[in-house]
Amino acid sequence: MQKRFEDHVVLVTGAGHGIGLAVAARFAEEGARVVINDLDPARAGQAARTARADLSIAADVSDKSQVDAMFDRVEEKYGRLDVLVNNAGNIYAARHFLEGDEQWWDQVLGVNLKGAYLCSHRAAHRMARQRSGVILNMSSGGATRAHRGNVAYDASKGGIEAMTRAMALDLAPYGVRVNAIVPGLIRTYDISDEDAALRGEVVPMGRLGTPEDLAGPTVFLATDDARYITGACLVVDGGVLVQQRSVPLDTFPLSRFPRI
Ligand SMILES: NC(=O)c1ccc[n+]([C@@H]2O[C@H](COP(=O)([O-])OP(=O)(O)OC[C@H]3O[C@@H](n4cnc5c(N)ncnc54)[C@H](O)[C@@H]3O)[C@@H](O)[C@H]2O)c1
Repeated sequence: MQKRFEDHVVLVTGAGHGIGLAVAARFAEEGARVVINDLDPARAGQAARTARADLSIAADVSDKSQVDAMFDRVEEKYGRLDVLVNNAGNIYAARHFLEGDEQWWDQVLGVNLKGAYLCSHRAAHRMARQRSGVILNMSSGGATRAHRGNVAYDASKGGIEAMTRAMALDLAPYGVRVNAIVPGLIRTYDISDEDAALRGEVVPMGRLGTPEDLAGPTVFLATDDARYITGACLVVDGGVLVQQRSVPLDTFPLSRFPRI
């Protein structure tokens, strides 16, 4: 494993589980001093041990005072921040539009969009003073194509992609890059293998994604190899977003084609 982040400080929000945990572990393997954030303190502590992170901080990213306390602590301990991954999100937000209410809307937008704004704002001030830094925002295919019964979630992710582009422009003059990652159907929730195989059939690549499938592409966007990439949305979804019709409708056996 290369050590591309030696002496770099990386903060990953919502890293107590799932994609964030895999991303945090990959940064740590590559030599970074990783700070794991999660709403749930026990999860954050356990994840920090699993990922060999330097520090865990329990905080709700949708609460400004908790976000400020978290960034003050990072500032005090390290005096710098090189990468922020805005990964915290509520993936259990499904409600039909006719069932939604104000509290639901505020909760989902509060974590998924305002949380990313609050963390980015603190991080960007630190990074602009350093004249270097990378902010990565976890989006979703829902930003581009709607999930049924997920209006608040999809609106929050549409906001994430618009915010990514706007932040990229504002921060480029100060050496700070901002990009988004667009995961597909990633198996981070409890489902049976049978169910996973069934869901995997709608993916052109034939399977659900794993959190580890996201780790490499996310880390790549923070490396020097990505130094000229800003304002981009990197889709990591096994082909889901580019397909018009479901797999069985137009996938043919190889034997149908002439041999050349
Ligand atoms: N799993 C997927 O299929 C998928 C697809 C597209 C996008 N995403 C996005 O990827 C990100 C991670 O998703 P996941 O599947 O790993 O989710 P997950 O539920 O496995 O992990 C999310 C973590 O965020 C934490 N969290 C929730 N609210 C928080 C808050 N207010 N402050 C701090 N931490 C909080 C949770 O405790 C949890 O540990 C999310 O932004 C999600 O929207 C996931």
